[in-house]
Amino acid sequence: MESRADALVVFGVTRDLAHKKLFPALYQLKRRGQLGGPVVGVGRSAWEDWHLVAAARKSLREMDSQVDMSVFDEFASHLTMIAGDYADPGLYERLAQRLDGSEHPLFYLAVPPAMFPHAIAGLASAGLAGRGRIVVEKPFGHDRRSARDLDDLLRSAFEPDRIYRIDHYLGKESVEGLLALRFANALFEPLWNRDHIAKVEITMAEKFGTQGRAGFYDGVGAVRDVLQNHLLQVVALLTMEPPVSPDVIGEETLAVLQRMRKLSPATTVRGQYAGYRDEPGVDPLSTTETFAASRLEIVSPRWQGVPFLVRVGKHLRANAAEVVVALRRRPADLFTGERTLQPEPNLLRLRFGHDDGVTISLQAKVPGADAVSRSVELSTVPDPTPRQEAYERLIEDVVNGRRHRFVSAEAIEEQWRIVQPLLDVAEQPLPYQRGSWGPDAAELLSGGWHEPHLPREKAA
Ligand code: BG6
Repeated sequence: MESRADALVVFGVTRDLAHKKLFPALYQLKRRGQLGGPVVGVGRSAWEDWHLVAAARKSLREMDSQVDMSVFDEFASHLTMIAGDYADPGLYERLAQRLDGSEHPLFYLAVPPAMFPHAIAGLASAGLAGRGRIVVEKPFGHDRRSARDLDDLLRSAFEPDRIYRIDHYLGKESVEGLLALRFANALFEPLWNRDHIAKVEITMAEKFGTQGRAGFYDGVGAVRDVLQNHLLQVVALLTMEPPVSPDVIGEETLAVLQRMRKLSPATTVRGQYAGYRDEPGVDPLSTTETFAASRLEIVSPRWQGVPFLVRVGKHLRANAAEVVVALRRRPADLFTGERTLQPEPNLLRLRFGHDDGVTISLQAKVPGADAVSRSVELSTVPDPTPRQEAYERLIEDVVNGRRHRFVSAEAIEEQWRIVQPLLDVAEQPLPYQRGSWGPDAAELLSGGWHEPHLPREKAA
């Protein structure tokens, strides 16, 4: 079994991810007694220790409403900063001195991908890689080839089972909730196949735009930013064969990813929201998509012929992360009457966003003399239990050497294979209005999406 990490080094500590996700996660781990040893921040800005402590405090004030100052002070007393250029070997020598006495350091790379080679080479030459474990943030490469090159580089310095490729969706309570629904209920698994399911729609919609990251986003786009990773992982969890234990979830998701056909530009709609090209950092002639909808097929005895309609995008009508499973229509029979030609198909809605839960639409008889049915909905009551944030869960996993919530190099390569035909398409994406559900053509692609089920106050 892997020993616990005894020091944590965050490369890119001055950046947005540290502010929004990493400081709150580390504070929570500290609060629960799960984080010991020094925490070293590394960044290019000329920060000293007190800047780092101030940045952590600011992050927690903004991101976490209930900060226990005694926990924070304890956390802050272990925080130190090393500022410098990632290409400078001296940076890693200073880091090695700071980590003197640490046997199992954990290095978290939250830096732009162009910096990965410098950081990996620097850690290796300072003799830190051999005993350390490394967490790599997405984007993991920008296509299949570059992902393989990055993996080769990582493996040249680190032990393969000490490389953690993070996809934070795998740490989300709501995404793990999908597994409980699928596998802990007698109700669904018998229906979970082409005999009973007519189509599946998966929506990851965001009401907001690039949130000050336009410069980064313009070189990436919706397909690389979330479809290649978060969305394909969710599809894989929904469609994999039952794993015998959590440890082999990665093997099962890989097996189903291998059975997914490449996405085709002919059955994909790319969109760009109005005003995107005017944002600072965006090329005024940008062809980057901020929306993508596509039809995914899985060639397997379980799924052959079932369309998986996927869509992701920014500046859409609402925040929604939802799967709609449409069961096959019942043949017309008793409860059809004259007013409805056929009963509506049963729908199963699995929400994996902030308001996670399930809604099942059933047919029930309309009270009265006629034998007709209509849709009624059965929903789970929102569970008020506070949810652990994905980054907290995942960093705790790495600290303890648990690997099952991380993505393998093979899965990442498959994900790139699947989206490859959509990468670097030079055509101008279709425009769409902010606050819409994307270009109209996306409606035609799916034959009409089911409107995501939103708590009333969250709808636009
Ligand atoms: C990130 C993407 O990986 O995931 C962002 O880069 C996106 O563009 C975010 O907004 C969504 O994550 P979450 O946890 O807020 O749903």
